[in-house]
Amino acid sequence: MAIPEAFLEELNERVDLVDVASGYTTLQKKGNRYWGCCPFHSEKTPSFSITPEKQMYYCFGCHKGGHLINFVMEAEGVGFVDAVGILAQRAGMPMPEDNGNPSEAKKRERLLNLNKEAARYFHANLTGPQGQQGRDYFAQRGLSKRTVTNFGLGYSLPEWDGLIRAMTERGYTKLELLEAGLAVQSKKGGVYDRFRGRVMFPIIDLRGNVIGFGGRVLDDSTPKYLNSPDTVIYNKSKNLFALNLAKKSKAGYLILTEGYMDTIALHQGGFDCAVASLGTSLTENHARLLAKYTKEVVISYDGDQAGINAAQRAIGLLNKTGVNVRVLRATGAKDPDEYIKKYGHNAFQRLIDGAAGQIPYRIGQIQQKYDLTADDQKVQYLQEAADLLARLSSPVEREIYGAQAAEAAGIDKAAMLSEVERQRSRLGWQQKKQADRKALTPAAENQPTERQFRYRNVRSAMAEEGVVRLLLLEPQLFPQAEGLRQEEFSSQVLGKVFGILQSRWEEGKDTPIEVLGALLDNQEMSHIATIAQKPESLQNSEAALADYIRTIQTEHMKDGVADDSDLLAVSSRKRTEDAP
Ligand code: UTP
Ligand code: MN
Repeated sequence: MAIPEAFLEELNERVDLVDVASGYTTLQKKGNRYWGCCPFHSEKTPSFSITPEKQMYYCFGCHKGGHLINFVMEAEGVGFVDAVGILAQRAGMPMPEDNGNPSEAKKRERLLNLNKEAARYFHANLTGPQGQQGRDYFAQRGLSKRTVTNFGLGYSLPEWDGLIRAMTERGYTKLELLEAGLAVQSKKGGVYDRFRGRVMFPIIDLRGNVIGFGGRVLDDSTPKYLNSPDTVIYNKSKNLFALNLAKKSKAGYLILTEGYMDTIALHQGGFDCAVASLGTSLTENHARLLAKYTKEVVISYDGDQAGINAAQRAIGLLNKTGVNVRVLRATGAKDPDEYIKKYGHNAFQRLIDGAAGQIPYRIGQIQQKYDLTADDQKVQYLQEAADLLARLSSPVEREIYGAQAAEAAGIDKAAMLSEVERQRSRLGWQQKKQADRKALTPAAENQPTERQFRYRNVRSAMAEEGVVRLLLLEPQLFPQAEGLRQEEFSSQVLGKVFGILQSRWEEGKDTPIEVLGALLDNQEMSHIATIAQKPESLQNSEAALADYIRTIQTEHMKDGVADDSDLLAVSSRKRTEDAP
């Protein structure tokens, strides 16, 4: 019986050799291979190895080796078809009917070849004399020539049948062009190119086949992107854009984005582990596919409400597969593409390494304080964890880490989340009261107790304290403080700390408060520690930071004017004492 290639491909996709072989021997990961005692000959020290990326095994003792199906044939002593049957059962795939249709495989192969030829044609358009508009577009989006080549990007000419003519000349039929989703039939029965006057993104599967395309307009017209429909060779819900490249990454995690351009921009910016789902929201198949290639997925979706909702869905699906999930919280840009272009590689790396990843660690620390088998301690744990989670400004983060914290302690997830929300509204109320009180407090009360740090301009100094505090708590806000300069600070010590934080951030270094201890003298440090402990609303930290910066810069300008004139200096001082 001839088993269709597509079926075997899917089988290989769904079943992991490491899982299967683990049923026959104990495997241990060393470097990029798994090692164990060979199931095919008797031995005491492991010489049997599996290379997971290649899905291949090899025994250095008995020299047997091969792929998934060979392994089962050898291990179970069965023939090819039976081995496939065993694996199909394991994967929950019904065996294909034996209707022996060899033309099916032929057809697939022709469609794959057609797609490959089409990709070459689009790419040649882009680099050729008629490709100026496409080249200009990619240049304007900041893509280098190398990126264009790496991704095989192209351009479809603004004609009705450019591709059809080129492909029929190469021996493909219009029917095949329709079947590949490259051409469309008009109501009158005519056939024309699906993609016209668009920059083209080929979608390449894990074996290097071109299976479909996305095409983007060069202006603001709609639809912004056109995509190949699902065809015999292309299934959107089972493929991820750029996984063919990302699977080779050494990063140890995959970055999941929403769009072609996000993924490409990240690759160009040095993150070769970025992938995107293709004009659909993430599916269970996508999640399983990701889990096959990585233990950790970093979700980097757009910052708008739609992106947050999509991330929440994706988290649910990914959690089921057992991969670690982290969610990036980018501020100051609408999507990863814009972010990395605006702030660069280091800033994006910091986002990845940033706050979100520390939360599980901090929750772990809280866990250790309590005996979670005792009910009263469980309640205390719940409250302390909820207090930490309530301070996270991202609802996505509150939800996932809330669920994790609940699960770890065997607490109902809904109970945890409602406690988080309860504490959150309490916090919000407290913060408002504090803000109100602050607005009424006479300036003198805001003066530091250490005389040498006395604030010259209390209004500005309060904002300066705010900036320092926020940046210590949420370093990922740094890009937003780019325009602020140390000289604009009215307090010398706060300016100094800001300068330290800023230059370290530019070098890609984090500055936990302990590090400051080594860079400041004791009195300065004690002053900063006091400031850092004052309450700060993290609910709307971006807006708060923007406010602080505005205040500092306005006050700095006023002070600058005042320095020039005694008269103004008097009124400026007066203003200072009235404020805030
Ligand atoms: P976005 O609208 O966020 O686009 O759609 P983008 O990727 O940021 O694109 P640029 O930066 O404006 O070029 C995200 C993804 O949704 C799919 C595409 O896969 C796109 O990359 N999409 C979007 C479509 O399939 N059709 C559309 O009309 C729009
Ligand atoms: Mn975009």
